[in-house]
Amino acid sequence: MTTIGFLACETTLPLPWGGIGDRRGDAFEHDLMTAALEPAFAQANLTLKVIDWEAPLDHFAGLDLIILGTAWNYQDKPDAFLAKIGELEARGIPVCNSAEVVRWNINKTYLRELAKRGAATIPTRWFSNVSQADLIDAFAAFDCDRLVVKLQVGAGALGQVLIHSEALPGADWRFGHAAMVQPFLPAIAEEGEFSFIFIGGELSHALRKRPAKGDYRIQSLYGGIESAYDPTTEELAAASAIIAAFPFAAPLYARIDMLRGSSNSLMVMEAELIEPYLYPEQGPQLGDRLACAILKRLEL
Ligand SMILES: Nc1ncnc2c1ncn2[C@@H]1O[C@H](COP(=O)(O)OP(=O)(O)O)[C@@H](O)[C@H]1O
Ligand SMILES: [Mg+2]
Repeated sequence: MTTIGFLACETTLPLPWGGIGDRRGDAFEHDLMTAALEPAFAQANLTLKVIDWEAPLDHFAGLDLIILGTAWNYQDKPDAFLAKIGELEARGIPVCNSAEVVRWNINKTYLRELAKRGAATIPTRWFSNVSQADLIDAFAAFDCDRLVVKLQVGAGALGQVLIHSEALPGADWRFGHAAMVQPFLPAIAEEGEFSFIFIGGELSHALRKRPAKGDYRIQSLYGGIESAYDPTTEELAAASAIIAAFPFAAPLYARIDMLRGSSNSLMVMEAELIEPYLYPEQGPQLGDRLACAILKRLEL
């Protein structure tokens, strides 16, 4: 029997599995993922074992491969998370995606590297902190009326701010964290953001995510709505070009989030290689594809 560990965290785990009972607002996505993977994995003779990534090392004994699943609190303790992946790998358990990939993907400065490698990225300025003067400069440089200020290490739009040029913060304002500043791209509210799910380097499915009326964040926590999407050849090529720009071979899974820029083509917003939600509802074949790619990795 081949057992695949699916890492979760105390706020995504259901109570019987060791959760704390007070689950995150988007923990239903954990349930949708495991419900999609379990039967498909069983068909491929793989057993899925859901486990808190913070469980003691011994609890991982016997796992043949680990996927990072819904370890959605890793940003609070990135060093411990990376250390755990390293320890699991040191025990000879393949972790997907690997410590190397996670280390590269944990800080959004990877977008700078993708840009250097020719990927279409959203124009971005990088700061160890952000001041009012930096915002004024960025408004001038990007020639826009709204800026998005994001954490370099972050997820789920947490800690992110949208700043209007007529409502600048005061002269003594500081963002307080290492940040990235981008022009606000109006396409987010119009057509939304696109996600391309790649399994083993091949497109599994794509979807479109739109924010709730009056919001610009597409995450389900803020009322964002997803629908399956059939990308054009051009759009698929734009997403595939991001995978091709990685400084390593295509990982087991990747979610490429893209947004349309002023040139009308898709630009990468994020390449999610750590613990992305993979939208099984928009890609009913996800479980089969993942099982197949895992068997290939294990050479079974
Ligand atoms: N430049 C931008 N223009 C418009 N909307 C943006 C921009 N950057 C981020 N957003 C919105 O904020 C959300 C979160 O930003 P993102 O870069 O995906 O960070 P994360 O998902 O890691 O928090 C996006 O899904 C999108 O809805
Ligand atoms: Mg995102």
